[in-house]
Parts: sequence; structure tokens; C-alpha cells
Amino acid sequence: VRLAAIISGRGSNMAALLAASRAADCPYALVLVVSDLAEAAGLATARDAGVPALLVPRRKDRAAFEVELDAALRAAHVELVALAGFMRILTPWFIARWQGRLLNIHPSLLPAYKGLDTHARAIAAGDREAGCSVHHVTAELDGGAVIAQARVPILPGDTPETLAARVLGAEHDLYPAAVAAVARGLEREGGEAMLQS
Ligand code: GRF
Repeated sequence: VRLAAIISGRGSNMAALLAASRAADCPYALVLVVSDLAEAAGLATARDAGVPALLVPRRKDRAAFEVELDAALRAAHVELVALAGFMRILTPWFIARWQGRLLNIHPSLLPAYKGLDTHARAIAAGDREAGCSVHHVTAELDGGAVIAQARVPILPGDTPETLAARVLGAEHDLYPAAVAAVARGLEREGGEAMLQS
């Protein structure tokens, strides 16, 4: 299954997806990385690893941005898309075009703490546990069906930064595993479609 990762920054989840794809039994290959920001460090990480990395610049005209993004994905024959620290909200048009093939990782135990500043909010609430969720992307922000979650403890003295680092470690295991599970599902569907035709 041909996977693309869409990023806006550091790209550590993208790098984890790439590292896991090297395993012999991994059902996906990372064939394209797209960033909407030129300064995203993940672009260079991808290029250094030999993965095609493309800038599709952010612009005011959201529809035009998404048409260009969609065209880039289709040109690379992408079958599955992983948002990985992509900091823009996609429109229903793009989401519908990739329905069932568009995933995101969010640094909270959804449905808790949708949106930004998840770690500060979890600490302020006195939670004992935090974590991350991989979910299907739907028109509701961070609201699509959850595919997989991982939990980490919140420890006394945690700051948003120390907690973010602990959760990020869990993200790097969870995202490749969840993407692989979805890719295996797509492979099965593809196999069945071929049997029927
Ligand atoms: C991660 O915490 C992810 O859950 C959130 O944004 C961050 C991206 O980090 N959506 P990176 O760019 O993958 O390093």
C-alpha cells in the first residue's frame, strides 16, 4: 500500500512511519512526504532518507491548496494518507475524496482534549493518564472513529513538555502499527475486489 505523510513541522512521526516501513513484513511503503511549510524540518529528513518530499505551499485559497495537494497525491499513486503534525484543517471536499484512507494522530486519549494544548489541559485537569490516538479523519475536528490508542502515565511534576515527550514516544510506536493495520485492511479489500471482478 502506497502511503503519503503530510506534515507541517518536525516530522518525527513521519520518520517513525518510515523506519517501520523498512521491516520485511510491513504492508505499506512511504512513497511521498508533503509539507505545507517550507521550513518544516521533516522535509529535509525525508529527502535525506531518499523519500520524495514536496512542498505544497499553504495559501489563503484553501480550495486551491487542496486541489494541488490532491493532485500531488494522485500523481504519486498514493492509496493511504497519514497526517503527521499537519497543522491545517482540511475541508469536507478533501476529506470526502480520501474517505477511509485519511488518518491522523492526535496527542490525547480521544474523545478527550480535541484541538491544541492537549498536554497542558490534561495536567490542569489532574488526569493520571494521557496518551495518543490514531483516528480516521472526518469533517469534525479530531472527531473521526478511533483506530488505536496508547496510554502513558502523568507523573507528579510533569510539565506539558515532559508529558509531550512521553506521549511522543508512544506515538512513534502507535502510528506505524495503526497505519499497518489499516493498510492490511485495504489489501484485503483490494484482494476481494480482484476476486469479484
Ligand atoms: C505530534 O504530537 C502529533 O500527535 C501532533 O503533532 C505532533 C507532531 O509531531 N498531531 P511530529 O511533527 O510528528 O514530530
